[in-house]
Amino acid sequence: MAHKIILDTDPGIDDAMAIFFAFQSPDIEVLGLTTVYGNVPVTMAAQNALTLCEIAGKDIPVTKGVGMPWVGPESTYAHFVHGDYGFGHIKPEAPKTELDPRSSAQFIVDMARKYPGEVTLVAIGPLGNLALALRLEPELPKLVKGVTIMGGAAFVRGNVTPLAEANIWNDAYAAEIVFGADWDLTMFGLDVTNDTPFSPSFVETLEEKNAKLGGFVKDTAQFYMDFYSANREDRVCFFHDAFPLAHLRHPELFELTEGHVRVGTGELDRGQTAVAPKGTTPSPLWNNANTIKVATKVDHAKLEQLFIDTYAL
Ligand code: BDR
Ligand code: CA
Repeated sequence: MAHKIILDTDPGIDDAMAIFFAFQSPDIEVLGLTTVYGNVPVTMAAQNALTLCEIAGKDIPVTKGVGMPWVGPESTYAHFVHGDYGFGHIKPEAPKTELDPRSSAQFIVDMARKYPGEVTLVAIGPLGNLALALRLEPELPKLVKGVTIMGGAAFVRGNVTPLAEANIWNDAYAAEIVFGADWDLTMFGLDVTNDTPFSPSFVETLEEKNAKLGGFVKDTAQFYMDFYSANREDRVCFFHDAFPLAHLRHPELFELTEGHVRVGTGELDRGQTAVAPKGTTPSPLWNNANTIKVATKVDHAKLEQLFIDTYAL
């Protein structure tokens, strides 16, 4: 049976690549795209999600969600990574389709109630929509099958600060709520995504296999590659957001470890996802904290082949 998912997203170039990967996956049913601010403001994220659905010919609900962090001022966004409109050098035409009128959080709650025990929430942006959904429906952890996120840095450096990864740093208090809820959460952070660079030939192959979807990824990824290649000899980019989706379909490609997690909300440790594997600390601050699963290793060659084969379908 296909995995029913809600993809919570802030498109974004690697979001686009991940969304198309989900659409192309025969064993994934995307119930809807719920958008959130992050790489771009939420209004742009929502329009971009509609654009991606139109390109892929997918008629599914797209919702607009939270536009601000749980605590603190409006975000500064990541146009320097994803371009002025979130798609590199490309300025998309205004989509013709319309948003579902519900908020992202309400849509998550509605789907969880409609398909109890069946829905996996796949979050590839900041976690405000999931935190709000938990407030709207405190029974949400019992209603969903699980939560899988791209975000965090457990045993490696961050990418916004030395400690924090962008999605968690962007809404640390929301992340604290989501990591603290009583559900089965698996985290795909920089531990695996930054360890897996993709070369220009990868996006060229995606285009060869799928002119429309792969071609869009290749075109938008040029700007993204400029950013990622600025301080290194080789030309690369990182498709962070597709990792939790690949795991859903092929868990055997990944190694996971389990540990107690805390999210930093202070000035210096904002957005840090510190993970203490079980039995490694005497502190109750950690031992009483929730446990999550964290991806620590991935088979790069097989992952890349999975993306290529799926785009080719
Ligand atoms: C994450 O931040 C965003 O720039 C990407 O879309 C990804 O979700 C990587 O840190
Ligand atoms: Ca993202």
